[in-house]
Amino acid sequence: MTLYCLGIEGTAHSFGAGIVTSEGKVLSNEWDMLKPAQGGIHPREASRHHSELGPGLIKDSVQKAGIHFKDINLVAFSRGPGLGPCLRTTATIARTLSLKLAVPLVDVNHCVAHIEIGCLESRFNDPVTVYVSGGNTQVIAFAGGRFRTFGETLDIAIGNMLDVLARELGMPFPGGPIVEREAKKGSNFYDLPYSVKGMDLSYSGMLTAAKKLHSEGVSISDICYSVQETSFGMLAEIAERAIAHTKKNELLLTGGVARNNRLTEILSGVAKRHEATFHRVSPSLAGDQGAMIAWNGILQYKSGRRIKVEDSHVLPKWRTDDQDILWR
Ligand code: ATP
Ligand code: FE2
Repeated sequence: MTLYCLGIEGTAHSFGAGIVTSEGKVLSNEWDMLKPAQGGIHPREASRHHSELGPGLIKDSVQKAGIHFKDINLVAFSRGPGLGPCLRTTATIARTLSLKLAVPLVDVNHCVAHIEIGCLESRFNDPVTVYVSGGNTQVIAFAGGRFRTFGETLDIAIGNMLDVLARELGMPFPGGPIVEREAKKGSNFYDLPYSVKGMDLSYSGMLTAAKKLHSEGVSISDICYSVQETSFGMLAEIAERAIAHTKKNELLLTGGVARNNRLTEILSGVAKRHEATFHRVSPSLAGDQGAMIAWNGILQYKSGRRIKVEDSHVLPKWRTDDQDILWR
């Protein structure tokens, strides 16, 4: 029998609702992102965005999937990591639906969901994953029953670095796509701090140095070009070491920054050198959305995991390697 899972995502600025079947078919994936007029994301404003738009997006996702609410067999929600107020709003909506529809509730780790939706799409069994987004920068591989973090940022995430850089250069949010467009026009490479420490990396020094280049009158396109080449080169170095060390033969690129074509090009080169298969998650599944939560809900449900409403408090600091992976 086919199961239908409603997945609800709302860890940060985006709210998403998606329906995925137990066979791994994505039937719908509705989504909306809060775009602040200026400055960064305020958690309270983002949570208000989720409570205002969430119910409508959920209705749309059910309708677009061609099913009815009574067909839903389980409700999955992103329990963490993320911003407390956003997580609480999302969890409240999920709990209410689970009680109202009298179906099980499943809690999902947002980072694990980014990896597993990539595995569903690529049919990878056991990849080294480069997970890059506004809040996370991690190189992950499965070992000893958990997704282990082999390397990560010691300060800010790469997507955040690109968003802040864009803001400093007078460009709107989200900055990643605009930096990518500008970088294509750049041709002069400026040295920026290349900061890899063992398997970890750091981006804040580069951000400061890039801002300084701007104040010295260097063109925006050359700054974006230099930032991309340096920051992606650092990621490629630790991803390459993770592949060499684990001897895994699949390399997966996931998270919102996976939409970047230059990063994709660099990492596919790394995979080729190590005779590994490469996959970049397609743009509609790369960023934060409900389908990845729904798919992880299915995987967990099949492995016997569900959560009682009274135990379902949110986990803002839930790490990728904090969860025993029962379905692998
Ligand atoms: P997480 O909670 O997993 O950290 P998130 O809240 O940052 O995720 P995502 O949708 O996964 O949300 O990622 C958004 C990030 O992706 C933003 O920082 C944005 O600038 C970046 N991004 C989007 N498109 C591109 C691109 N083409 N190149 C580089 N970065 C991009
Ligand atoms: Fe995300």
